[in-house]
Amino acid sequence: MKTIEWLGRSLKVIDQTKLPAEEVYCEAKTHEEVAELIESMVVRGAPAIGAVVAYGYALGALEFQGSREEFFAHLENVQARLKATRPTAVNLSWALRRMEDRLREMRDAEDLELICAALVDEANAIAEDDRRMNKLIGEYGNTLVPEKATILTHCNAGALATVEYGTALGVIRTAFEAGKTVHVYATETRPLLQGARLTAWELFKAGIPVTLIADNMAGWLMQQDKIDLVIVGADRVVANGDTANKIGTYSLAVLAHTHGIPFYVAAPTSTIDLKMRTGMEIPIEQRSDKEMRELFGKQITPAEIDVYNPAFDVTPAKYITGIITENGIVAPPYAVNLLKMLVRS
Ligand code: MRU
Repeated sequence: MKTIEWLGRSLKVIDQTKLPAEEVYCEAKTHEEVAELIESMVVRGAPAIGAVVAYGYALGALEFQGSREEFFAHLENVQARLKATRPTAVNLSWALRRMEDRLREMRDAEDLELICAALVDEANAIAEDDRRMNKLIGEYGNTLVPEKATILTHCNAGALATVEYGTALGVIRTAFEAGKTVHVYATETRPLLQGARLTAWELFKAGIPVTLIADNMAGWLMQQDKIDLVIVGADRVVANGDTANKIGTYSLAVLAHTHGIPFYVAAPTSTIDLKMRTGMEIPIEQRSDKEMRELFGKQITPAEIDVYNPAFDVTPAKYITGIITENGIVAPPYAVNLLKMLVRS
């Protein structure tokens, strides 16, 4: 299974809306098709979104037919369209910035084909960096996992949410591959069930013992001493360590704190946004009412019921025991240590 595959002039992604019932793939040939894949959650997860927008930008260059002046104006539109797809995961603007920097470096190249090749090259580098970062996150994170551990995770921060391997699930995979006895509790993750459909599927396929729970069961498990640690992914970590992740993460962090259970965030540095000082500045995506009113196309609530559907919440830094990055594990105080880690790397 490959989450993302570049085919030379198109991008192939696994359709995450169909998993686990069907393993089918979609192919995007234009930046507009890439934008639609992100909006419809065919591809999701912060690092995967980053890699996919990079390829979307490259496709925007490859699809263009017209004059040299129009080419640069077209790419500005491509950038704006891709940037507007999902607001919370900072990996999206991080990847677009890398693509724009590469475009700037190539601006004087005579031949537009050379510029297109450089942009494809940059998108490949972003994807490769993600693979590398996830492996390192796995290795650092593994040092936090006891020989025998029951780990709670939320949503899907696995291979499907990245280019390969995963962040939170990358840590779990590394611990499992190192011979540790790990057992994972995966939360369902309403309303779109990324935990039930994607995390359960990934772990089951990898042979890693996993038990599915509904979102409202985590507190009871913790109260019974059934959880040794919690590891989740992130969509944006800001300068003071506040972290946006899938809705429900905040409740889990408060519960873990109450029960004295370590709560870790696993995220590559592409998810860190030092431009924002606190989590209150993070834009939180609101999604369609339909996601709450329907389940697999079937109405499950009164048709006109009022709905609130934020896709993410913000966990205050004080509940986070450590942030596992490809440069090592960052401990509090995050306002000092995140910057130190980034300067050192
Ligand atoms: O709405 P989604 O499915 O894109 O949300 C995904 C998450 O919240 C993940 O935990 C996060 O992106 C980290 S993925 C390594």
